[in-house]
Amino acid sequence: MKQPLSNRVEQVAPSPTLFITAKAKKMKQEGIDVIGLGAGEPDFNTPENIIQAAYRSMEEGHTKYTPSSGIKELKDAISEKLKRDQSLDYSEEQIFVGTGAKHVLYSAFQAIINPGDEVIIPVPYWVTYPEQVKLAGGVPVFVETGFDQDFKILPADFEKAITAKTKAIVLNSPNNPTGMSYSSDELKALGELAVQHDLYMISDEIYEKLYYGDKSDLVSVASFGPEFYERTIVVNGVSKAYAMTGWRIGYAAGPRPVIAAMGKLADHMTSNPSVSAQYAALEAYTGSQEVPEKMYQAFEERMERFYPQLEKIPGFKPKKPDGAFYFFIEAKEAAKQKGFHSVDAFAEALLNQALVAVIPGSGFGMPDYIRLSYATDPDLFQTALNRIQDFMMK
Ligand SMILES: Cc1ncc(COP(=O)(O)O)c(C=O)c1O
Repeated sequence: MKQPLSNRVEQVAPSPTLFITAKAKKMKQEGIDVIGLGAGEPDFNTPENIIQAAYRSMEEGHTKYTPSSGIKELKDAISEKLKRDQSLDYSEEQIFVGTGAKHVLYSAFQAIINPGDEVIIPVPYWVTYPEQVKLAGGVPVFVETGFDQDFKILPADFEKAITAKTKAIVLNSPNNPTGMSYSSDELKALGELAVQHDLYMISDEIYEKLYYGDKSDLVSVASFGPEFYERTIVVNGVSKAYAMTGWRIGYAAGPRPVIAAMGKLADHMTSNPSVSAQYAALEAYTGSQEVPEKMYQAFEERMERFYPQLEKIPGFKPKKPDGAFYFFIEAKEAAKQKGFHSVDAFAEALLNQALVAVIPGSGFGMPDYIRLSYATDPDLFQTALNRIQDFMMK
């Protein structure tokens, strides 16, 4: 067969984070005692009440197709959640339930991007945004940040990046990979520019429930007023807050035409997300919040316990996260101290010699950094830190 693959698919970059993850997996299969700190998912199992709700739904006969954009009961529960937590009003027609936040984001870009449209993506970014923008025919436009500005974009830099072709900006707070969160004022200043230049805002709030600061500081950019609300596509889901990564339920709340377009896509692409997973998500949003709250507390405790240790590792410059479950660490100096020309090479040596798998920052657009996930058993995390410390002292 000599036919090429589609240009669309050829331009998608393979996930740079996969190299180390795949290598670590292979080493483990060979019996080597590698500790993986790459995971982007809670190490807890899904709470029992949620699992039981899925069983029950199957026994009650919920085993058939549902509307492509999700069951009414789940949309109502999401609508109530948005009202309760963020004082946002969304009707059923303004909510789309998809197969994980990743599918929801993909659908959102497909719904709003025309060929050549530019989408502003702050750096560092979750690896998937630029690829999804490209798959929609759009052009990712990166806006740099830095350690000293807590990896948050400044309004002036955002404005400089806006052209006649700019269609949207992606905001992700709390952030993967940095764990940083925009304050209400910071977010409003960015939102005002989006309003002024008539841009969509894709607000990825998947780590909303894992915020360690004062909860009243955590707001959605959609909540600042009607002109913010009408251009914001809020994206969230159950993966991180309810330890439900494998169930694949995410949602978008936003303007009716965008949500309808996303539903139309789902009609021809996926149909509904798994019906049992939808009933499980319904329980997640309406059932007891005791277990998710405990998971949240466990993540916060780990963050407080391990952050001071990271600060003491030679050549490591970590930033204390506001949320999520990642440490983002400048490791340029550590790489130099060990004689490596790049942090990528340093990360590979950590894997081969210290037997600790970390994600190099190159995948997130910041090659001087590494990301460590503390969604990991704390004893294992401690052992991993000891190994890194020993490696640096050698
Ligand atoms: C910033 C961000 N957005 C979205 C997702 C996707 O979440 P889901 O499991 O719901 O597809 C992730 C998962 O790693 C993420 O880190």
